[in-house]
Amino acid sequence: MARTDEADYVLRTVEERGIRFIRLWFTDVLGFLKAFTITSQELEGALAEGMGFDGSSIEGFSRIQESDMVAIPDPSTFQVIPWRTELPVARMFCDVVTPDGVPFDGDPRWVLKRQLARAADLGYTFYVGPELEFFYFRSVEDPAFLDQGGYFDETPLDVATDYRKRTVQYLEAMGIPVEYVHHEVAPSQHEIDLRYTDALTMADDVMAYRLTVKEVAQEFGIYATFMPKPVAGVNGSGMHTHMSLFEGDRNAFFDATDEYHLSKTAKTFIAGLLEHAPDLTLVTNQWVNSYKRLVPGYEAPVYVCWARRNRSALVRVPQYKPGKEEATRIEYRSPDAACNPYLAFAVMLAAGLDGVERELELPPEASNNIYEMSDADRRAAGIRSLPEDLHDAIVLAERSDLVRRALGDHVHEYLIRNKRAEWDAFKAEVTPFELRRYLPIL
Ligand SMILES: Nc1ncnc2c1ncn2[C@@H]1O[C@H](COP(=O)(O)OP(=O)(O)OP(=O)(O)O)[C@@H](O)[C@H]1O
Ligand SMILES: [Mg+2]
Repeated sequence: MARTDEADYVLRTVEERGIRFIRLWFTDVLGFLKAFTITSQELEGALAEGMGFDGSSIEGFSRIQESDMVAIPDPSTFQVIPWRTELPVARMFCDVVTPDGVPFDGDPRWVLKRQLARAADLGYTFYVGPELEFFYFRSVEDPAFLDQGGYFDETPLDVATDYRKRTVQYLEAMGIPVEYVHHEVAPSQHEIDLRYTDALTMADDVMAYRLTVKEVAQEFGIYATFMPKPVAGVNGSGMHTHMSLFEGDRNAFFDATDEYHLSKTAKTFIAGLLEHAPDLTLVTNQWVNSYKRLVPGYEAPVYVCWARRNRSALVRVPQYKPGKEEATRIEYRSPDAACNPYLAFAVMLAAGLDGVERELELPPEASNNIYEMSDADRRAAGIRSLPEDLHDAIVLAERSDLVRRALGDHVHEYLIRNKRAEWDAFKAEVTPFELRRYLPIL
């Protein structure tokens, strides 16, 4: 196979910068970053044929009897790791294939690539801009807040300015553009906004972002977490995901003649997302703890509806700014930052495209505060709820054709099996809540 220019660039850069080690990164089905290191001597071979590894110890990959896997580095993702200064180390994301070179069904990057190819067949490129929120704590053992700051608070309340600044420096050093950075609503909670880009690059960037935030926290002797709801009574950490479809350079979500400046493609895309929202929630909110965030009263969505500007809706259409057609987008507000970004982007795209292809009708806009409506009013307005807990989400995802087709049988079956085991483990727990409430009275 002829070597690509990108592979040539990688080999030349490694040579010129005296890089001895290259970390090969890929992701398991639950969204944990996996890596192994090769030396620069192995690089040419790895770029040409990939590097074999044992897939049987990777969550959701393969059984012991078919465990040979091959990681093919993607040279377009080559970056030098900014925090490894003593000996320069680089990294590349990999596609996982079977020994006969066929893309592996259990590889989340392949799951996303399949959906992006479907969008491309329809003439679209899928752009996403996720807002990942996270907490800084003193340590895992002592999850105490480092500050009592609030939304957009400035020092001395906001002690984390240096932590965020170094994180931005590292992200930019790895070619990940940052738009802005701020303290979030809850104490010790922060957000660093990445500039939107194509979904595959963004899924890789989300993996690098999570690792970088945790790396910087460790350098400062504190702990950073993307746990959706680490503290009861304050906002949880979400991953609002802004998205749009482009046709070439044109934003296909924009229509100058429409009352809301939204095209038919945008409206049918929203309709598809709303139709499948409860079914795909297992993927965007995959932990027991994820549902402690999806409760009324903390800016996190609970009800399946859309609205312009209204932050209590599941799908929000940010205000249109004249002359900013390319920024026309929708914001899907339920995902949390502990999801597998490849799978989350894949199912959200699949749901949107299903709406576009079936020309689904957009339900009426939910203009008022949905939380203040009565259950009866919501039912009358046809407003459904997101799953109440992980078990609900499992049941809905298991029987969803769209989710199965988007993930593929291998990942779908593995995820249902794994999440059922997690729910069973949770169910078996006797929680502090039960002891506090029942032991004194029963
Ligand atoms: N056409 C587009 N497609 C996808 N994402 C886009 C597009 N245009 C802008 N974005 C992204 O949308 C995100 C907007 O983030 P921003 O924090 O401004 O949103 P917000 O929801 O108004 O903020 P918050 O939730 O903190 O109140 C950014 O990541 C930006 O890059
Ligand atoms: Mg937002």
